Amino acid sequence: MACRRMTEPAPQRLFIKTYGCQMNVHDSERMADLLAPLGYCLTEDAAEADLAVLNTCHIREKAAEKVYSELGRLRRLKEDRAAAGGRMLIAVAGCVAQAEGEEIQRRQSAVDLVLGPQAYHRLPELIARAHRAGGRIVSAAFEAEAKFDALPRARGVSGVTAFVTVQEGCDRFCTFCVVPYTRGAEFSRPADLIETEVRGLVDQGVREITLLGQNVNAWSGAGEEGLAGLIRRLARIPGLARIRYTTSHPADMTDDLIAAHGEVEALMPYLHLPVQAGSNAILRAMNRAHTAETYLATLERLRAVRPDIALSGDFIVGFPGETEADFEATLSLVREVGYASAYSFKYSRRPGTPAAALPRQVPEEVKSERLQRLQALLSAQQNAFNLAQVGRVLPVLVEKVGRRGGQMIGRSPYLQAVHFQAEPDQAGQILAVEILEAHANSLAGRRAPPA
Ligand code: SAH
Ligand code: SF4
Ligand code: F3S
Repeated sequence: MACRRMTEPAPQRLFIKTYGCQMNVHDSERMADLLAPLGYCLTEDAAEADLAVLNTCHIREKAAEKVYSELGRLRRLKEDRAAAGGRMLIAVAGCVAQAEGEEIQRRQSAVDLVLGPQAYHRLPELIARAHRAGGRIVSAAFEAEAKFDALPRARGVSGVTAFVTVQEGCDRFCTFCVVPYTRGAEFSRPADLIETEVRGLVDQGVREITLLGQNVNAWSGAGEEGLAGLIRRLARIPGLARIRYTTSHPADMTDDLIAAHGEVEALMPYLHLPVQAGSNAILRAMNRAHTAETYLATLERLRAVRPDIALSGDFIVGFPGETEADFEATLSLVREVGYASAYSFKYSRRPGTPAAALPRQVPEEVKSERLQRLQALLSAQQNAFNLAQVGRVLPVLVEKVGRRGGQMIGRSPYLQAVHFQAEPDQAGQILAVEILEAHANSLAGRRAPPA
């Protein structure tokens, strides 16, 4: 997003670096929206920043550690600025901020401000305090409702797709996961507010929305009966062509939501439904509230109403106590499902989570070896899925200009990037594209002749 307002005196420069999930990407955009009226313009160059924000992720150890190396770099830039008579504030936001609080300032004293994901609406006030107090301000309170009420409603969007936060937090407490601690209890926004936001986006040219939540299919906001009710309501908005939602928990796939996949045309036939593992003993130890069998039964019901639905998933290998046989159960579940895409991770021990204290932690080299085997299978499935599109004509939502002349990039219903020749003014249209080539992460095709 470009700087929207030039103020006197010279605009403040805002640098934001985002780690982690889509929710963080979205939150970073909202922070920029919130600071724009105060004269903050985004910059990609941290060296010229008056305020540098790291929007952090705590999900795995590596994600959290990256933050500290980036803070080291920012510290040097801050010192250079001070030597030149300037001033830079460094803020740590997001899930590491929530999890570690003041500890962050102890490890890196150049940090002026630490604020958790529920405190973003207080950013202007906190910046002012940091300027007065020379830093050392911590805010990590859970105030989901206040945050949603206080963040600016009017959003500037560029492009034809947008994310809309409908739910935040998680009550599921999978034993490996920090999210219930960093994002707090589940909170759902009311349907009326969501509808108003989506109508505003559609007025600005958005054709596809993705409803976001850490456990989005547990949405229980006022005004509609469950996520299926919300989707049905949004699908009636004229001009909105496509609806997606992420991320879902298998145990929260209600009958009504499954039925919606067969009835709501705008609901895309692609679902991210993480299973994590294929062994019931491991799923139980993870506190997942589903078994391999109930997961497969859910998919069968989804496929019964929407035969072309494509699946994506998340997997963890090397959870404490995972035996070779447990791991093979994961491989066998993957073979049975056939994923269109997937994310897979080595189990990472997170301080404070129940699984971190379990005996029989799996050695690093065993985790690496299992991850390799799983990823080989998953990428073969992804390639096969992409290849299966060759020769088909897919409805492609045209998003943006591609790198080569005359080329546009769009999305298939299955979220694949599709490259093809079209005019820039066709962005926002849904065109029939014949798929000619499949690559690891994209497809290429040409406009299909009218039927
Ligand atoms: N429902 C959330 C999930 C966030 S975590 C969402 O909105 O995206 C994303 C994925 O990270 C999880 O599905 C899980 O596969 C993985 N993950 C979570 N904790 C982990 C840990 N301690 N070690 C390795 N992977 C983990
Ligand atoms: Fe984490 Fe489990 Fe909640 Fe997903 S459902 S955010 S993995 S606790
Ligand atoms: Fe990471 Fe927090 Fe998202 S831990 S995955 S940024 S909810």
